[in-house]
Amino acid sequence: MIKKAVLPVAGLGTRFLPATKASPKEMLPILDKPLIQYAVEEAERVGIKDFIFITGKHKRAIEDHFDKAVELEERLIKAGKLDLLKKINSFEHLNFAYIRQKEPKGLGDAILCAKSFIADEAFAVLLSDDVIDPNFSVLEKMMSLYEDKKAPIIALEEVPPEEVSRYGIVAGKKISDDCYLIEDMIEKPDKSKAPSNLAIIGRYLLTPSIFRYLEGLTPGKGGEIQLTDALRELLKETPVYGYKIKCRRYDAGEKFGYLKTIIYFALSDPEISHDFRKFLKEQLSCI
Ligand code: G1P
Repeated sequence: MIKKAVLPVAGLGTRFLPATKASPKEMLPILDKPLIQYAVEEAERVGIKDFIFITGKHKRAIEDHFDKAVELEERLIKAGKLDLLKKINSFEHLNFAYIRQKEPKGLGDAILCAKSFIADEAFAVLLSDDVIDPNFSVLEKMMSLYEDKKAPIIALEEVPPEEVSRYGIVAGKKISDDCYLIEDMIEKPDKSKAPSNLAIIGRYLLTPSIFRYLEGLTPGKGGEIQLTDALRELLKETPVYGYKIKCRRYDAGEKFGYLKTIIYFALSDPEISHDFRKFLKEQLSCI
């Protein structure tokens, strides 16, 4: 099965400036965990143990987060705070590798950086901005589809027509309740040119064949090497399927979406949800 995940984290996070001036967007907290940890835990739940981060400048905090913190551990042990020790030690059985993307040339270029670490196996790509409700396993569904089709699988979600220009949009033939055979895709089209309102969301299961299409690709939308453009070429020669998700997904890569993500997790957190609900009701009644 799929054992490796590639997590592109080289983006500048300009939507969150000044918060992201000196620290990575991926380390913004959702309650007590950074954004990136949700993606790692999601992949871990389906048995992925090897994580390849495609990083850039100012991303050291991500490496430190997934590393051992010897001094902190000793302090926690001395203070008898074993519950906290468990929380910070939860990555010990996982393997992390970091590759620097030399220039910020886009998502396609970031994935290409992982080529020599992937060899000839299928792999997952998770974009940590897209936070998926942990009560649902989108990756598990995608993996069983992959087992069945032995072809690349991309997560899809219907978005409102006014939002299509924020996503890769696909045209496809529905072949079952939640599965599409993708016929075309276009990166961030104008509303008038979008072939549907089925958007690509940040979960992909890819085969190494994608690297052939990424190599030599010319810059596309926004002057960047786009994964969508490589997939568009790939699907002309081999089937590519879409899995339409059936659960909540939050775009924590922009301010309002980030806020919604925090509110959703706060309302689901047994420790604080009761008080938080009360607080929200009080606030709303004051408006
Ligand atoms: C990337 C992809 C886009 C996809 C989106 C999902 O865009 O290029 O096709 O729809 O992720 O979040 P980004 O949001 O990184 O600009």
